[in-house]
Amino acid sequence: AADLPASVEALTLQSTQNVSKYPSCFPTLNPMDIYREHIATKLSEATDIDAELIYGRLAWTNTLDKGDLALPVAALRIKKKPQELCEELAAKFPESDLVLPPTANGPHLSFFCKPQPLAKTVLGRVLTEKAAYGTNGNIGLKDPSDPSKGQKRIIIEFSSPNIAKPFHAGHLRSTIIGGFLANLYTVLGWDVIKMNYLGDWGKQYGLLANGFKYFGNEEALQKDPINHLFEVYVKVNGLVSEQDVPIKAMKEQIKLKKEKNEDVSSEEAELAKLVDVSEDEKARRYFKSMEDSEPEALALWRRFRDLSIAKYKQTYARLNIDFDVYSGESQVKNESMTNAYKTMESAGVAEKSEGAVIADFTKHGAKKLGKAIIVRKDGTPLYLTRDIGAITERDEAYHFDKMIYVVAAQQDLHLAQLFKITELMGRKDLSDRCEHINFGMVHGMSTRKGTVKFLDDILRDVGDKMHDVMKSNDVKYQQVENPVQTADTLGITAVMVQDMTGKRVNGYTFNLEAMTSFEGDTGPYLQYAHARLCSMGRKSGLDLDDLASANFDLLTEQHATDLIRLLASWPDVLVNTYKTLEPVTVLSYLFRMTHMLSSSYDVLKVIGSEPDVKKARMALYAAARQVLHNGMRVLGLNPVERM
Ligand code: ARG
Repeated sequence: AADLPASVEALTLQSTQNVSKYPSCFPTLNPMDIYREHIATKLSEATDIDAELIYGRLAWTNTLDKGDLALPVAALRIKKKPQELCEELAAKFPESDLVLPPTANGPHLSFFCKPQPLAKTVLGRVLTEKAAYGTNGNIGLKDPSDPSKGQKRIIIEFSSPNIAKPFHAGHLRSTIIGGFLANLYTVLGWDVIKMNYLGDWGKQYGLLANGFKYFGNEEALQKDPINHLFEVYVKVNGLVSEQDVPIKAMKEQIKLKKEKNEDVSSEEAELAKLVDVSEDEKARRYFKSMEDSEPEALALWRRFRDLSIAKYKQTYARLNIDFDVYSGESQVKNESMTNAYKTMESAGVAEKSEGAVIADFTKHGAKKLGKAIIVRKDGTPLYLTRDIGAITERDEAYHFDKMIYVVAAQQDLHLAQLFKITELMGRKDLSDRCEHINFGMVHGMSTRKGTVKFLDDILRDVGDKMHDVMKSNDVKYQQVENPVQTADTLGITAVMVQDMTGKRVNGYTFNLEAMTSFEGDTGPYLQYAHARLCSMGRKSGLDLDDLASANFDLLTEQHATDLIRLLASWPDVLVNTYKTLEPVTVLSYLFRMTHMLSSSYDVLKVIGSEPDVKKARMALYAAARQVLHNGMRVLGLNPVERM
């Protein structure tokens, strides 16, 4: 792992021991929890409404004009018109050091934080907690009141490409979304196991092994295993299709003769000969020897797998991803599959049908799931069969509290069948812990040179494009210290941000021009916002480690207050993301911040201001940079300091 090109930096984590009387309330970690606790307690004292009920209903707002927290009063279950109730509660709410008098806003009671105390708390925390601001190690605890019981464990299975086949857009999205989920669960205190379930088993690996004997080249394999194996695979598949022509013709001839009741014995002998020497048949035999654990057959396959994994690791590192486990279809034990059918048979889930074993979901109250083959006529297992074996193996090996499969929506049926079978096998306890996180298709993923095949090609192409974009501004370009490296990072950001821009279920069109532009909510724009804040810090001439001692009372402008309010909500944004499991929840927040920042620069100037004001404003910008950084890290992006 020492030669990985990008460092896979650990995400920081903070937790707390002092548990509030309110459920999931962590005032020392989440500033908004101080306010929820305060409002719930004060309002309850003044009205006799249950404090916990109020606490649980205090919601964050989508826009700052609706307040920092809002109480939808209908949720209090009091028989009164919401509007009237709002006014009544507003009148009863006592004077407070922390919040302004609440206002009735239709059916909502809106609370606004008083700017000065909020500034002190939030900026003070962001500047001292740094990368840990927003993290919450308590959420992932098995028992929040007893940390000694340990963290909850989650397996996130993602990326999962197939060896010797293209890394397509589905794998790209799975990689991006899965990497994000792994970061999210990590900063919320879960013990995360990142698993890559490779497509690395089946007859096609027999074909590949034979193909390598004809078309393989040791040097090329060492140098670029992924591309070379794909080349070999394409060539040997070419042979298969060529040989298929006479085989098909012979089959057709036999069919015609049979219809006329003519003798076909010589044709059948001829066909058997053709089949016997065909690559397809040789592949079948080779794969059989792999299944029978013949050392030589396995050794070659294992080299292909190991070399491919080594190469994948380098590419994943560019995306800040490192897997804990490289599992795969090959790793599922025959025994687990056999045990699974036995359980299925005795549970009445599996039945014989024309020599094969099938599961007929329509008989088990799941009409939509149709039927699925579990074991082929020739006794061999299928993709689904391996997943059934794998789910039980993983449960035994890892004792996880939750498992997420990050797989394209095209496989919705497959995963629904897998979970249903697990349930029908009497393992509802297991299927209930599993979740399929799906996503829509990417259209038109091609580079300027043609259709993309591998992740490296995509990243190279986008990096090249980004380099061109950078070069078009020559003055700026001259100032960038390491343009190729920067272009690479910006390119990766561009791809990832485009992917994370909509909800997961929506597909999108891969658009090189749009994603690499600095206009609009793009990756390069996000990086630019971060780099600009870094440059401001460098140019300020201030000691950036001493900003927490600034006088925050000097931040009186509305722009400053609004920015602070937004920074205050970052821990809540993470908690909300934990519910949506959507990268866009984080991304939209970051873009809200960058927009607010860009409208603040003219109002809140650092250079040229009075020393105390200058320091306070720089503290505000430094805090914004930190939160931007923290958000980008959760998304899996590498924030750049200069560009
Ligand atoms: N290798 C599969 C493919 O490329 C994806 C694997 C998804 N995970 C699973 N457990 N079936 O389609």
